[in-house]
Formats: sequence, structure tokens, C-alpha cells
Amino acid sequence: MSQTLVDYQLLIEQAKAITADEPDLIANLSNLSALINETLADVNWVGFYLTRAPELLVLGPFQGKVACLRIAFGKGVCGAAAATRQTQLVEDVHQFAGHIACDAASNSEVVVPLIVADQVVGVLDIDSPSVARFSPADAAGLTELGRFIESLDWSQLQPSA
Ligand code: SME
Repeated sequence: MSQTLVDYQLLIEQAKAITADEPDLIANLSNLSALINETLADVNWVGFYLTRAPELLVLGPFQGKVACLRIAFGKGVCGAAAATRQTQLVEDVHQFAGHIACDAASNSEVVVPLIVADQVVGVLDIDSPSVARFSPADAAGLTELGRFIESLDWSQLQPSA
């Protein structure tokens, strides 16, 4: 499906603006998930998984349907992003070995690893119901947005039970 091109520089400026006066990490990630969800067309799930135990992602702020709670590094697309530290651009999740189907509507996705002080602190996961929704330009723009998100105060993230 052809998409209106997203102005990622504008999105990053908006991300800076809505987080500038708020020190709380979870509040900022919550609004960032809403901003991305509002800005990108044809997406059904946008959110964060946060590293709250060694090599373990736990569900964080998101927009979308009820989702999987815990994803080990190396599992699914999110776990692949965390394990490889590389943005994952998956045109058809059904062709991705080990994909975790949280929302049956998802057909393509981008997952950006978030790395602070050489630690994977979480991932940004964006899913679409359309196959091949995301272009390499989308992956690059979202990765650049991820670089900004890494600049938030991640020292607040605590281990979970
Ligand atoms: N699709 C992800 C799982 C998380 S949900 O889509 C919200 C994956 O395979 O990593």
C-alpha cells in the first residue's frame, strides 16, 4: 500500500517538544507512543517493551490491543532487535521465524532497539495490518527517533519483580 510520506524530522521535533518539560520517563514514553500512533497512518500497535530484568523485555507504555507481557531477548521481532541491537524491518511477520503474534491484525513491523550506556534499555515496536507497510526510509526515520528517545532519563527505569 502506498503511504503518505512521514516527515520524520518534524516528528522528532514534536517528540522533543512534548517531552521537554516532563522529567518522568514513563509519562514521556506514554505520550511518545500516542504521538507516533497519531502520526503514522495504517498502524495498529505502537509501544515500548522495556528491559526490566537481564535479557528480558516487559511490556511498557503503548497504544493498541492487549499485548504479550514478557519477551526474552532473541524471541520474536522485538527480541531480535534487542539481541542484535539492530533495527528490524519485517515486511511480512508471518515469514519471520519466531514472530510473536500479539495482535492477529499485525502483518508488518519495525522494531528499534534503544541503547543507553551500552545497555539495551528497551525497544520501540510499531506494527501495521498491511504487508510491507514500512519502507527503509521509515525504518531510518524511526531509528533516528529512537536516538532521541535514548536521550531521555532512563536512569529511572527500575528492575521489575
Ligand atoms: N510482534 C512482536 C510482539 C509484540 S507485539 O506485536 C505487540 C514480536 O514478534 O516481537
